[in-house]
Amino acid sequence: MKITKLMNPLKGEIELPSDKSISHRAVMFGSIAKGKTIIHRLLLSADVKTTLSAFQKMGVKMKFVGDDLEIEGSNFHLTQPRTSLDFGNSGTTARLLMGILASQNFETHLVGDESLLKRPMNRVAIPLSLMGADVRAQGSQATLPVTIKGGHLNPINYEIPVASAQVKTSLIFAALRAQGKSHFIEQLQTRDHTERMLPLFGGKIEVKDLEIKVSGPQNLFGTTLTVPGDFSSASFWIVATLIVPGSELLLKKVGVNPTRTGLLDIVKTMGAKIELLNFDHSHETADIHVTYTGDLRGIEISGELIPRCIDELPILSLLATQATGETVIKNAKELRFKESDRISSVTSLLKSMGADITPYEDGMIIVGKTDLSSSEVEANKDHRLMMTAVIAGLIAENGNNLPDNIEEIISTSYPTFFEDLRKICQ
Ligand code: S3P
Repeated sequence: MKITKLMNPLKGEIELPSDKSISHRAVMFGSIAKGKTIIHRLLLSADVKTTLSAFQKMGVKMKFVGDDLEIEGSNFHLTQPRTSLDFGNSGTTARLLMGILASQNFETHLVGDESLLKRPMNRVAIPLSLMGADVRAQGSQATLPVTIKGGHLNPINYEIPVASAQVKTSLIFAALRAQGKSHFIEQLQTRDHTERMLPLFGGKIEVKDLEIKVSGPQNLFGTTLTVPGDFSSASFWIVATLIVPGSELLLKKVGVNPTRTGLLDIVKTMGAKIELLNFDHSHETADIHVTYTGDLRGIEISGELIPRCIDELPILSLLATQATGETVIKNAKELRFKESDRISSVTSLLKSMGADITPYEDGMIIVGKTDLSSSEVEANKDHRLMMTAVIAGLIAENGNNLPDNIEEIISTSYPTFFEDLRKICQ
């Protein structure tokens, strides 16, 4: 596929697809709760379909009624799947489900695609084993294929060594079925969708700053919930507006949970014109209005900001190529463990387009402003890298040549990405 340089600004509005992290959690909570859960506006991306299919293979009944998904919860009584569970590209499905399988009294074999097979699972395998699950995996990183056999779980006191909402959530799921009170400490605040959703299902959790306590065993009860628009998906359009001269976009009903919106703080500090309108407190959404000004400066992105923008760092790196001066991204080693090693893959993408970018062990330094040139973008199973390549193509002399299966890769999180792009191109 060829993306050509835009001659006109981006204009109009987009209603964002629903949040991927929240959609996974809604399906998981609905599947382990007792009774019916109704989910409005579930994201039907490839990753979320992976989660749906895993629970169906474990006996959970679900059906669409109009646009709503209705789940008949299993009350934590899943059944052993007849075949391996294939998690495709979805690290969230793999890590979160391991926390649920840790309490299920049967053995399950877990596999994934070539990208997922490289991603470390020891971050969940170690604490889940300490709680009593039997987890067998590959090598020191405990990569997939994994075999997990659950059963009786003990509570634990555990300082989570990486800033990861996936690990935190996996452990909360396990703690809900342990005999006693578990106590977790995060290093830095990560997205808190699980802590917020658990009480909607009747669950109890104590959260104070970076400490979390969960008593088990607990039962959960089905509920009705609506998934907000995905801030991470909105970020591609925010950056596109900030780099395509004359652009102005309204992004509607975007989830603005502060544990996710580090990019807003970052682009404001860089000098962007961006405002939140129509804040809806009950759903924690707002419309984001963003306008091109062309006058951005490089900044440092580090410390507690990193977990608040971890998925946005590829597209922020592109933005940094269009800001004057140096942008320093550090304390972001976690980027190496995503759908690709995003320090390497972002560096080679932007370098191939002429950017001044230097990779480090835990980040990158990008010096702007650089006129980007066209590139033959290499195929990569990383949806966020591929969306970054598309947006970069919009400002590159002669555009970008993209891999043929790019729509399929992007459908991991944003199945209507190209439709939305066409809508705002004039
Ligand atoms: C996610 C947490 C983050 C994020 C991922 C989704 C989640 O991963 O990068 O896209 O839904 O909990 P980590 O927990 O590995 O940081």
